Amino acid sequence: MRALLVDSSAKAGFRLGEVADPTPAPNQVLVEVKAISLNYGDASGGYSVEDGKVNGWDAAGVVVKAAADGSGPEVGARVVTFGFGGGGWAQLRAVDTAELAVLPDNVDFAQAAALPVAAVTALRALRRFGSVLGRRVLITGAAGGVGRFGVQLAAQSGAHVIASVGSAGRGDGLKELGAAEVIVGVEGLAGPLHGVLDNVGGPNQVVAYGLLTEDGSIQSIGATSGEPAVYPPYSTVGPHGRVEGFMMGGGLGEDLAYVSSLVGAGKLDVEIGYQGSWENFEDAIAALLGRKVVGKAVLDVS
Ligand SMILES: NC(=O)c1ccc[n+]([C@@H]2O[C@H](COP(=O)([O-])OP(=O)(O)OC[C@H]3O[C@@H](n4cnc5c(N)ncnc54)[C@H](OP(=O)(O)O)[C@@H]3O)[C@@H](O)[C@H]2O)c1
Repeated sequence: MRALLVDSSAKAGFRLGEVADPTPAPNQVLVEVKAISLNYGDASGGYSVEDGKVNGWDAAGVVVKAAADGSGPEVGARVVTFGFGGGGWAQLRAVDTAELAVLPDNVDFAQAAALPVAAVTALRALRRFGSVLGRRVLITGAAGGVGRFGVQLAAQSGAHVIASVGSAGRGDGLKELGAAEVIVGVEGLAGPLHGVLDNVGGPNQVVAYGLLTEDGSIQSIGATSGEPAVYPPYSTVGPHGRVEGFMMGGGLGEDLAYVSSLVGAGKLDVEIGYQGSWENFEDAIAALLGRKVVGKAVLDVS
């Protein structure tokens, strides 16, 4: 089969090449992949598997072989899938039945492929705040994959959502998705903050920390700013909230079914800011890492 393979000598860190078809374990289905999405983490090579292996966490397609242990969907089912070890950016993917969901008929493969890492991260991080009803929640990197889903899910949960973006134009459409305020960086940011979905890190995290309620938390999801968050002496002493390390984890099946159902019901918008053939993967990766993509970058697999 053809696949996007890790190649540390290649320009974007990957190449399209031929590898053996995967052999599914008893608890895995084999999926013919139709669409994949790029995440900051896998596209940047930050969590790549070794050279020659298939990269990619998110993929959607059709089951072509059911799991030998009887778990999971039958042949022909349309599914969305996840695997942290990679394996998604390929014509065929063997995937654990605990890491997939069957799609509603009206959710297409491109929309589905956009969901696993970005939407489930937003969902799981948001849950850590407890109730956000009537509470102020800041989302940094709000124009990105995790951010746009975070804005919508937080607003639907009753939060007053403050969406922070890198530059003015990047905030387009976020109010329509439910943001009460759209700000650039931390310009005009006011407290109190009950929760922060922090995709960007750096100095802005320190500012947000100073506005946290005592029982509030920052979910440290990512650090795309590439800058250190330097906490001045005594700024962390006293009745402050918490900075918590966040990791999405596995066992996505139930949450994938939930976010897919929201998309099918028209309650979760999937903004695909870049869509094209996987032959154009270098262009897609450059656009994503160059902050040119609003929402998600999705590639069609052929
Ligand atoms: N811990 C976990 O389990 C987990 C799960 C998912 C993602 N992540 C991490 O979360 C982060 C966001 O992921 P994603 O998929 O949403 O990425 P994405 O779609 O590429 O979005 C990244 C966002 O970061 C902002 N950004 C990029 N470079 C920046 C800079 N130099 N200064 C300030 N802002 C910058 C961009 O803002 P503008 O668009 O406004 O320019 C963009 O909205 C990444 O670090 C990713 O690795 C972690």
